[in-house]
Amino acid sequence: MKNDMGKYISKILITEEQIRSKVKELGELITRDYQDKDLLVVCILKGAMIFMADLVREIKIPLDIDTMVVSSYGSSTTSSGVVRILKDLDESIENRDVLIVEDIIDTGLTLKYLMDNIFSRGPRSVKICSFLDKPERRKVNIVPDYLGYSIPDEFVVGYGLDYAEKYRNLPFIAVLDPKAYEK
Ligand code: IMP
Ligand code: MG
Repeated sequence: MKNDMGKYISKILITEEQIRSKVKELGELITRDYQDKDLLVVCILKGAMIFMADLVREIKIPLDIDTMVVSSYGSSTTSSGVVRILKDLDESIENRDVLIVEDIIDTGLTLKYLMDNIFSRGPRSVKICSFLDKPERRKVNIVPDYLGYSIPDEFVVGYGLDYAEKYRNLPFIAVLDPKAYEK
C-alpha cells in the first residue's frame, strides 16, 4: 500500500479497548472530585485533543473547555524547556478550578512552565490530567493528579500524539520504529 500507516509501527503499546476503559475510569474520578467545583478543562493542543474529546464525555458534571497551543523549542523528539504560547486561553481563569489535560509528560518542562503561568492568573485550583507519563525522563518535579498510563522511555505515537505531525489519527498508542526518524 502506498500510504501505509503501519510501516513504521514497531508495536502496539496500549490498545483501543484499554484506552476506552482507562478514559472511563479517569472520567469517573474527575466527576467525583469536581462535584461542587467550577470545572474548566484546559486542553493543550494539538496532542491532547483526542484524549480530551473522549475524556469530557466521561465527565458527568457541567464543565467549560478552553484550549492553549504551546510549542517548545528543541528537536522533534526532545523538549528544551523554552515554551512559547502560540494561542492563549480565551477566558479568564480567576477563581476557577482548572484541569490541564495533556497527552504525555516527558521531561515535565512544558507543564512546569504552564503550571507557573496558569497559577499566576489566580485560579482557585489547578490539577493535571495526563494520558501518558514517562517518569524516567523527568527533569523537573511534575506529578500528574490523574494519569492514564506510565510507559517506558520509548517514543510513542497515536491517540493524538505525533511524530512530525503524523500518526495522530491512530486509534491506539504505538511505539514508532526508530527507522521512521532516521530518514
Ligand atoms: P516535556 O516538556 O518534555 O514534558 O514534553 C512534553 C511534550 O513533548 C508533549 O506534550 C508531547 O507533545 C511531546 N512528547 C514527549 N514525548 C513524546 C512521545 O513519546 N511521542 C510524542 N510526543 C512526545
Ligand atoms: Mg506535542
